[in-house]
Amino acid sequence: MGIIHLSFMIPKYGDIMTSPPFPRSGVCMDDEETLFNVRESNLDTGLRGIPVGTCQTSYVDPMEGVHYVGYPVEDLVDLEEEDVIYLLLFKELPTKEQSDKFRAELVHRAESLPTGALRVLESLTPGSGHPMDWLAIGIMALGTAEATGDVRADSMNLIARMPELMARVFLLRGGRKEQLKPRNPELGLVENFVHMLGVEGEEAERMCRVLRFFFILHMDHGGGNLSTFTGKAVASGRASVYSAMSSAMNALSGPLHGRANQAVLEFIQRIGTSSEDEVKSFVNAEIDARRPIYGFGHGVLRAEDPRARLLIGLGEEICPDEELYKTVKVLREITPDILKERIPKISNPYPNVDLGSGTLLHSVGFRKPDYYTTFFGWARVAGICAQILDERNAREGRGTPIYRPKYIPKNQPHRRLD
Ligand code: MLT
Repeated sequence: MGIIHLSFMIPKYGDIMTSPPFPRSGVCMDDEETLFNVRESNLDTGLRGIPVGTCQTSYVDPMEGVHYVGYPVEDLVDLEEEDVIYLLLFKELPTKEQSDKFRAELVHRAESLPTGALRVLESLTPGSGHPMDWLAIGIMALGTAEATGDVRADSMNLIARMPELMARVFLLRGGRKEQLKPRNPELGLVENFVHMLGVEGEEAERMCRVLRFFFILHMDHGGGNLSTFTGKAVASGRASVYSAMSSAMNALSGPLHGRANQAVLEFIQRIGTSSEDEVKSFVNAEIDARRPIYGFGHGVLRAEDPRARLLIGLGEEICPDEELYKTVKVLREITPDILKERIPKISNPYPNVDLGSGTLLHSVGFRKPDYYTTFFGWARVAGICAQILDERNAREGRGTPIYRPKYIPKNQPHRRLD
């Protein structure tokens, strides 16, 4: 998520009759309460801000950012990734015993990728297509080989297999398949991925530190972000978790959604300096040329994204003296004021999660920004699976009905062939 588009003003919200964030966990709603008045001006705005369902995994406070089952994400960043996944699935942080059992289940389910799915990935030409295409194809291919139709089992299998799928996408697409190390799921999700890439020692530790942090911050972001919504919409037709997730990954791959993290690093590389005056001139010149300012703005947030603050904070530990990181800090400092001055109606001129993430990934060895969205996608598999499971369990186990919003006909006068 996250660019400011100069030619696009966020449409006006309708009236939310319950104070945001809606709903906070535990809020009881009266069946007849009016939550939102849909006005004509709300049409053709991508359902922006219109409540369509409930979400039990996370909510996004416009000022304070995302909370996972009530916890601000900053409380969770230093936990083990499996425990945060457990929280999203079961709505409580695990006890030591629950955590051990959950990990053991993931290890047990992390069998090697089925041969058929592997062959599909191996048949793709290294370097061709976007890594997100490979990820979506890989998930789909896994589904053809092993979907059971049981949402819980399929979700757990997919979560458990993602480290290997990710490693294979990286190495097969990169034409380096001989570097792949045998999987070792006992290491945990993030470490197993890093190990399979063949990274070791101190380099592996730095990589794991950044990836785990990134992974936890990106797992979920309420129910209405495009990839989650797409995954749930597809799942509502009772398609398999794999089909739903592959669709979600395709939704995430667009530059207005997950692929913005790739665009931010490319933007920062184009700036090429951390000199404050030069960064200011660059940003102003981009605005003059009506080009997007990457890493700022958000569809829901109205203050700096806490995930941006946390990632930039981590940069002090990981890469304080690197030029790209210093450029990020200068951008964070100067851009909101420039945006407010140049675009007075702007609703959110503040940094979003993408501003610092690419710089950290780059610093720990991921030099190709086109892979960054796959990390976002991998993380979101957990949140999307958890939300699909919640929707499937809704209404006393009957599940959320198939998604079917209404579109108002336009420019379609009644006609007949003579
Ligand atoms: C995010 O993580 O910021 C989202 O997926 C984008 C959104 O919430 O719309």
